[in-house]
Parts: sequence; structure tokens; C-alpha cells
Amino acid sequence: MIQVAVLGYGTVGSGVVEVIEKNKEEINKKSGEELNIKYILDLRDFPGDPYENKIVHDVNEVLEDPEVAIVCETMGGLGAAYEFTRRALLSGKSVCTSNKELVAAHGPELIRIAHDNKCNYLFEASVGGGIPIIRPLNYSLTAEKIDAITGILNGTTNYILSKMEKEGADFADVLALAQEKGYAEKNPAADVEGHDACRKIAILSSLMSGKNVRSEEIYTEGITKITAADFVYAHAMGKTIKLLAKSMEQEGRFYAMVAPFLISREHPLYMVNGVFNAVCVHGNMLGDSMYYGRGAGKLPTASAVVSDVVDCARHIGKVIMCFWDAQNVELTGIDEAKRSFFVRVDAKKEREAIETFKSVRVIEADVPGEFAFVTDVMSEKEFNRKAGEVGIISRVRMEE
Ligand code: NAP
Ligand code: HSE
Repeated sequence: MIQVAVLGYGTVGSGVVEVIEKNKEEINKKSGEELNIKYILDLRDFPGDPYENKIVHDVNEVLEDPEVAIVCETMGGLGAAYEFTRRALLSGKSVCTSNKELVAAHGPELIRIAHDNKCNYLFEASVGGGIPIIRPLNYSLTAEKIDAITGILNGTTNYILSKMEKEGADFADVLALAQEKGYAEKNPAADVEGHDACRKIAILSSLMSGKNVRSEEIYTEGITKITAADFVYAHAMGKTIKLLAKSMEQEGRFYAMVAPFLISREHPLYMVNGVFNAVCVHGNMLGDSMYYGRGAGKLPTASAVVSDVVDCARHIGKVIMCFWDAQNVELTGIDEAKRSFFVRVDAKKEREAIETFKSVRVIEADVPGEFAFVTDVMSEKEFNRKAGEVGIISRVRMEE
């Protein structure tokens, strides 16, 4: 029997316990041995919960028990989660996590500690919730040189944007709904300001390059400035707005960014709605491939954590390779990146905008008092200069 501990009995942690219990036959068969949840660590008590007798409050009980072979870290954050993970790995216990903040900040160090101690640090649930994306990058696409990844990597913001678009719902109301459903981070600013998607693209970019892409260096914009009027224009153009996380390696330069983009109906990510996420991966031999599924929520995320538990159970005492070196990748800033932009200005600035941006495609929509247009392709730097000169209401980048 393999003893498992769960650290953090919240949305994901309780899902892990539920998945292991509900699918125990399949999971035990695939693990090659029976899994047993020996401890659940949390700050609170859970009176009446069927697993009440497994709840502990002292992490030492878990970490000092030599029987525990696999630990699921579903607490989140960097403080205690980092300390408990390090200690577990140093004592040879594999750790499976959904905590992308920790993976993005300390991934290479924790992977190295795991391997030095003949155990594993696995993080399938850290990107794309229940979507298998870490394992494809680590195991399935090993014959590829991956040169681009573009994804919708945050369930909460995709849920909000979809509801705003399809139901004209209010931003704050939909965010509250996403929180109720357990999609949002403890501090939902991480979702709506794009930081969560940024951490996820940092993880994917690190696996793509084999080196460390620092999330702090990725240009990040969230969805807080997107309004109902932007969707009116998007419809007029036959497009929608999605929060995209992108990274690309071109001629030795590495680019990464997170921002809302206008995408057309033909784009593979156009139909990804609600809490669903999707990741498009481009490899030099395979070309395009795409991974799709529920990007947040209790059971989909827990399923991904438990898939890692099964992998750890199959590899007790053995290292599962993961190429993520501590050496930092130098990112190229976005100033020189070229694209066209959708721009809204006050109707009084129509002439000035046309004189400044020269060739523009005017977008007609039922938004009073405004003049809206799409620019030619230009660099971010040139756009920012011209937008500053005119004084715009807002802009959204156009995805090719
Ligand atoms: P959550 O519902 O807040 O659960 C976290 C649990 O851990 C809470 O019960 C919390 O207790 C407990 N905890 C926090 N610090 C602790 C400590 N020092 N010792 C013991 N217990 C502690 O959060 P969640 O949504 O499950 O998310 C957990 C992690 O998974 C986060 O890193 C999140 O980003 C990630 N994730 C979440 C989802 C999702 O859909 N929810 C999807 C993918 C990844 P208190 O409530 O008392 O603080
Ligand atoms: N808050 C995250 C999201 C959870 O909405 O995508 C999944 O990582």
C-alpha cells in the first residue's frame, strides 16, 4: 500500500480525496498498488466530514512519517507551501502540486531537490487545470523543437469574457460567480490582472526552452479594461476577445506576453468558451497541435493532480525526467513586436487620429460619441507613441 498525504483541504485538495476515493479501482490498478490517504493537513477542522479522522494540523506529523511516499500540495501560495514541499522532497517523498505560483517561482530548484533525493516533483495541474499539457511537453513531444505556444490559460477570465460577450453580463457579477464555482484564485486579482496566466506561460515556456523563464519578466496585461463596448466592436468585426498567453522562439530570441487579443472566427481558440482552456503548441516537425479541456474547478484540477500521484506511484525510488534548467532565459521585450491594433477614440478626435495613424480601417458599430478603427501593422513602440499623441480611450491588440 502506498501512503499519500494531502496538504490543503480546499477546492482542489478535497477534489483529490474525492477522485482517489471515487475512482479507486482504476487508480489502484494503474498505480500497480493500492493508494491510501493517510493524512489531510489543513488549518481548519472539518466536523462531520467523512475524512475528519485524517485531518491533522501539524505538518511534522506528515513529513516525519516514513510511510508517506507521496504528498499532494494543494494549499497554494509561496510561504508554507514552499517550505513543506522542500522538506517533503528532501526526505524522499514525491510531491504533486496544482500550485503554479510555486512552480513558476521555484520549479528548477524543487525539481533538482526531488531528483537528488530519488523522488519527483510533478505539476500537471499547474497549467490548464485538467488538460494534459505538462506530460505532452515532457514525454510526447520529445522529438520536437517547440517554437511557439499560444493559449487561453485562465479559466476565470475566459469565463468572465464569455459571459460578457454572450450574455452582456457585468464584470463584477461574473467574477463573483467564478469565485462561487471555485475557479478563481484566493486573491482574484491574480486572475483578472493576468498574473495567473503569466505564471502558467512561464512554466510552459520553461519546458519549451529547457531553461528558466522568469514570470516577473513577462509583459502582462489583464482583462480589467475590457468593456461591453469592446464586445460591440468585436461583433461588428466578426471577432471575439480572449486573454492570450503567448511565447515564441525565433532566430535565437525568446518572446513571451499575456494580454487580451481580438481573434477571428477562424482562429483555433475562438470556440474556447467558459471555464475551458486550450493550448496550441507548434513544433518544427509536427506543426500545430492543440490541447483542450476544463481549465479550472475542483474535479478537473484534482484529476490532473491524481494523474501525477499515479505517475509517482509507478516510479517510487525512480526519477521521471523533466528538462527545466535553472539558467535564466533572456526575454526580448515587446517594443519591437509588430501587429495591428484596434483603437477607440472620442469622436471629436477623428481627424487627429486619421492624421496620426494615416491608413486606418474604420469600424462602424453602435457606440455613440466614439470613432473606432484598426491600424496598419506597426511596432508596439510606434503605436504607443502615436496613441500618446492622440489620446485614446482604449486599444486591443489584433491577433493574426
Ligand atoms: P483553496 O480552496 O483556498 O484551498 C487551499 C486550502 O489550503 C485551504 O483549505 C486552506 O485553509 C489550506 N491552507 C492554506 N495554507 C495552509 C497551511 N499553511 N497549512 C495547512 N493548510 C493550509 O484553494 P484551491 O482553489 O484549492 O487552490 C489550491 C492551489 O491550487 C492554488 O495554488 C491554486 O492556484 C491552485 N489551482 C486551483 C484551481 C482551482 O480551480 N481552484 C485550479 C488549478 C490550480 P484556509 O482556507 O483555512 O486558509
Ligand atoms: N484561477 C485559476 C483559473 C485556476 O481560473 O484558471 C486554475 O489554475
